[in-house]
Amino acid sequence: MSDPFFAVNSVQAGYGDVRVLWDISVSIQRGEIGCIVGSNGAGKTTLLNTISGLVKPTAGSIKLDGVELANAPSDVVLGAGIAHVPEGRRLFKGLSVEDNLMLGAYLRDDLQDIRNDLAFVYDLFPILKERSRQDAVTMSGGEQQMCAIGRGIMSRPRLLMIDELSLGLAPRLVDRLSEALLEINKTGLTILLVEQDVMTAFEIADHAFVIETGRVSMSGTTEDLGADPRIRESYMGI
Ligand SMILES: Nc1ncnc2c1ncn2[C@@H]1O[C@H](COP(=O)(O)OP(=O)(O)OP(=O)(O)O)[C@@H](O)[C@H]1O
Ligand SMILES: [Mg+2]
Repeated sequence: MSDPFFAVNSVQAGYGDVRVLWDISVSIQRGEIGCIVGSNGAGKTTLLNTISGLVKPTAGSIKLDGVELANAPSDVVLGAGIAHVPEGRRLFKGLSVEDNLMLGAYLRDDLQDIRNDLAFVYDLFPILKERSRQDAVTMSGGEQQMCAIGRGIMSRPRLLMIDELSLGLAPRLVDRLSEALLEINKTGLTILLVEQDVMTAFEIADHAFVIETGRVSMSGTTEDLGADPRIRESYMGI
């Protein structure tokens, strides 16, 4: 098999003297959706923060399309094309929905493509077009999640990472967002999803990695893992 498009290999990371990630390896093929599941405090957010360079790994490798990102200079990490939709969305207060979306494109100068991408985001989430002038943080949680994902798309990433897609959202909205992610994925974009709701994650993703106390305890196709009694009992409550 060819090298995976995205690969985290034997990564260790933490905060000060406290190690959180122990020898984590995760990989995603080009154009696939990978998901990371695991309980509170397992290290999911720390892993995404390590991938996007916010937390420095103390060992291991993080490669996107063959380019090493672990401890690489910030211009290399920025230029690699990883969009990170953080836990809690973190939109900019006092800025409109459209301004928040356009912030995603701040490193780009291909104006026509930026316009096309904005049209794509508005097609995907028509409510954002209706609310384009509204202060982004005054929108509902679901609308803010759409805006945060839209902002990620506006950077034209090669890897889109989303931390807790469904957190705090009603099931109907989660379905809507899941459909949108599948639409986005159809454009060829590789996605890494972190999700506490294992059912939701497994419906969307091709491969899954289960993290327990900073280690990958199980991995495989979502089809295989979804049928595994250990996963069904521990994470799906069935
Ligand atoms: N900035 C920080 N400084 C020190 N410790 C931290 C920091 N951020 C996270 N941790 C610790 O790292 C561990 C993993 O946290 P992390 O946020 O990565 O987990 P998570 O899997 O994303 O959890 P959740 O499902 O609650 O979002 C926890 O023990 C947490 O207390
Ligand atoms: Mg988290």
